[in-house]
Amino acid sequence: MDLSMPGFELVQLKSGAESIRCRKHGETMHVGSGPSTEAAELHVNQQRIVERAVACQVEGNSPFVIWDVGLGPAGNALTTLEALRAIDAPVEIHSFEIDTAVLEFALKHSGALGYMAGWEPVLGELLERGEVQALPHVRWRLHRGDYLDQMCHAPPPSAIYHDPYSPARNPQMWSLEVFRAARERCAPDALLTNYTRSTAVRVTLALAGWAVGLGVATGDKDQTTIAAARAQMLERPLDAIWLRRVRASTNAAAFRGGRYAPGPIREADLRTLEALPQFAGR
Ligand SMILES: C[S@@+](CC[C@H](N)C(=O)[O-])C[C@H]1O[C@@H](n2cnc3c(N)ncnc32)[C@H](O)[C@@H]1O
Repeated sequence: MDLSMPGFELVQLKSGAESIRCRKHGETMHVGSGPSTEAAELHVNQQRIVERAVACQVEGNSPFVIWDVGLGPAGNALTTLEALRAIDAPVEIHSFEIDTAVLEFALKHSGALGYMAGWEPVLGELLERGEVQALPHVRWRLHRGDYLDQMCHAPPPSAIYHDPYSPARNPQMWSLEVFRAARERCAPDALLTNYTRSTAVRVTLALAGWAVGLGVATGDKDQTTIAAARAQMLERPLDAIWLRRVRASTNAAAFRGGRYAPGPIREADLRTLEALPQFAGR
């Protein structure tokens, strides 16, 4: 453990991969399967980033824009870059981070973490200059500060990796305000993926204007969450059975104003949810 940076520590996951634990939030990143595997399964493959970036180029809409929300130790971003080596379609990655201490910690331990190997100079330049040509066809930009304040500086995304700390520890980042602002700014073909299967998070996403579906299994999680700007993009949209669960749940209240206050859904929110195109008539 590096005592000069006491906010974080390296931990070995069940999979054998090394990851990072934030002591302040008491949370380990990529806890299920490790930084590269979780990033690939949950975000890169599920969002079909490589195919969609190529399609974007063919349709003349390049660059394909990705928002990497909560850069952290860059597991999602670097896994994306590795996948993008296979193509030459133009891509922009816009990472958002309120505190780069975890990335600085990770860089000091890049040997143990493994997934950073070879990317250290790129990460160094990103930290120093705020942007870097990560691959000949991929521009990578770092937006320092609070995501909600910074998102207006990034172009509309077709892909959002939503990866802050958990709703209990980081409720502002799972709030109606944040999801609504992202929905208003995103491209018409946007997908948003995250690691939770929380009913309250799904309710919040739906009320914010996203169509919401079941996401892939990864690590110990039998399902996660995927949201889309258009419902047709979802393979497994949430349905009437889920809506029934919302009505019965004691933990389905939408997140508002950065407060973590679990409880049943408000009556007015339930009416709004039931009237959404995804659920109307169910
Ligand atoms: C779980 S870690 C991200 C892991 C990372 N995506 C990866 O793939 O390695 C969560 C990160 O979100 C950042 N974060 C939390 N709140 C934020 C905010 N309001 N704006 C920007 N970043 C935030 C934290 O500082 C932390 O680095």
